[in-house]
Amino acid sequence: MNLDDINKQLEKMLPKKRFKHSLNVANTSIKLSKIYNYDEEKAYLAGMIHDCAKYLNKEEVKYYVAKYKIELDDLEKNNLALSHSVIGCYIAKYEFKIEDEEIISAVKYHTTGKANMNLLEKILYIADLIEEDRSFPGVELLRKLIYGGSLDEALLISFNNTIKFVIDNEQLIHPRTIEARNYLMQQKSVLR
Ligand SMILES: [Fe+2]
Ligand SMILES: [Fe+2]
Repeated sequence: MNLDDINKQLEKMLPKKRFKHSLNVANTSIKLSKIYNYDEEKAYLAGMIHDCAKYLNKEEVKYYVAKYKIELDDLEKNNLALSHSVIGCYIAKYEFKIEDEEIISAVKYHTTGKANMNLLEKILYIADLIEEDRSFPGVELLRKLIYGGSLDEALLISFNNTIKFVIDNEQLIHPRTIEARNYLMQQKSVLR
């Protein structure tokens, strides 16, 4: 599918507000690609499609999980807040016919992060957090770090924030987020 067709599909799959969020993430991903030397078109596409599965109903989730034999872990099952990224990567690959594995993988890990993320995975993860309509305590510090060239530092703060938030709200932590955080901590101590 070309970008026009994908956008038409997305407009059907997402409420207006989420479509606007996707556009914001796509545009933020372009800005970050300029700073960190990544392919702007790929980053834009990843941003546009990242939340494509966020508003699937239960029947649709069942349909895609069966159709593509998607394996969800215990935390992802029955939890679209976590599983939309995993299901979304299958929709990107097989419905939107996107072949680029970096884009697919960035969509897959945009909710939890993972250890040893590649540049597009990092760009999409952070663009999703700091796009212009996002406001939460500390977002300005993150923007300052990211636009100032400290991508990994911003990521580490984000993972720490997520883990703290999840604990304070008595929710389960996805192990990939802990692995993402520990990986960056270990890298930092190696560089010190
Ligand atoms: Fe998402
Ligand atoms: Fe998002």
